[in-house]
Amino acid sequence: MDRLILININQLVTCKGKAPKKGAAMNDAGIFSNGCVVIESGRIVAAGSVPEVFSKFKDSDCEILDCSRNAVIPGFVDSHTHFIFAGSRPDEFAMRMAGSTYMDIMDAGGGIVSTVSKTRLAGLEELTTQGMKRADSMITFGVTTVEGKSGYGLDRDSEIKQLKAMKDVNERHFIDVVPTFLGAHTVPGEFTGRSNDYLEYLLKEVLPVVKKNNLAEFVDIFCEKGVFEIEQSEYYLGEARKMGFGLKLHADEIVSLGGAELAARLGAVSADHLLKVSNEGIRAMAEMGVISTLLPTTAFCLKEEYADARGIIDSGGAVALATDFNPGSSFTNSIPLVMALAAIEMNMSVEEIIIALTINGACAVNRQNEIGSIEAGKKADILILECPSINYLPYNTGINLVQKVIKDGKVVYDKYEKHEYR
Ligand code: NIG
Ligand code: FE
Repeated sequence: MDRLILININQLVTCKGKAPKKGAAMNDAGIFSNGCVVIESGRIVAAGSVPEVFSKFKDSDCEILDCSRNAVIPGFVDSHTHFIFAGSRPDEFAMRMAGSTYMDIMDAGGGIVSTVSKTRLAGLEELTTQGMKRADSMITFGVTTVEGKSGYGLDRDSEIKQLKAMKDVNERHFIDVVPTFLGAHTVPGEFTGRSNDYLEYLLKEVLPVVKKNNLAEFVDIFCEKGVFEIEQSEYYLGEARKMGFGLKLHADEIVSLGGAELAARLGAVSADHLLKVSNEGIRAMAEMGVISTLLPTTAFCLKEEYADARGIIDSGGAVALATDFNPGSSFTNSIPLVMALAAIEMNMSVEEIIIALTINGACAVNRQNEIGSIEAGKKADILILECPSINYLPYNTGINLVQKVIKDGKVVYDKYEKHEYR
């Protein structure tokens, strides 16, 4: 019997229960003191307190992992990233610190399109190799599932190359990768002034190939003033839905355009960013159960106001948190920084933060039945922290407190031992 039992857990944070967790339920992280988790063949078979669980499962040849009175939580789900790209843009960071805005830089011909030029030139193997290194780093922060977006190719073959790189990383690395098609990230040079033609091109020439080869689960769009407007986004995502894709939007980031309302009308899985979301948008999303994916490191790096996490949660909404790791607006995959900003700048409680990075993140990538909580039947994607309770996560500000990462029931990372990630 291939059985592993985690014992001596000071605080077991299961995040169990109805998903997504909305409103006040985001404060209920399903916590047990003196916890115990039983794993068999990569899956969780029981989780609870030692007196409830241990004696039922202990047998002579099971393996015991002593968690030394530390806290144990589900693996993190980084549900919004753009981690496959070539090149970097440090000059833009310096320009922003000197006063330029993200859109100034984009309007002047920089931003996304400069990463597109480099990514088009890169080979598949080069993108995959970079992606593997980035996944190595994510694992050390406790990320066991990551969503990744295309959107730096903006033509059929280059978009497909990005998606294939994600597929390769998914196959070669312990980390699970959920692929999203973001061909509608911006209008490429070949289609300048013809954004509708570009969207038709994506719908007719690219998305059918993506679907046929099963290269993406979601379709996303940068719905923003001067990029893709509401009507265009509505049409494009409506067509993508007919093709069987789940929907996501970069919504209400720079201008309050009605992206959140659109996400609710379309029944999107998530709307992301939401720095400028309206109260009506918050209400509509809460009613329709659309996840609000908030990206505090992006607001931080763009020197923007943070999204209204309190308003969303207090209106009964479900919040997920993610890094938005990309070469422009958030060149960081730091989960500790996300947690620090969510606590200090967005007034989220530590329970809300953990829920937002686990089960609600899982909902944002439609994997809530497989991951995101420590419950019987789910994949054993579990973190052992080096602190007795989750209160230390924002308090030990910006510090990575992940000691061991268990992926599919196996310890794949240990901060204090030589390890292999792949
Ligand atoms: O989510 N806002 C649009 N897209 C990305 C940034 C992409 C880039 O600047 O390369 C984001 O922030
Ligand atoms: Fe993004």
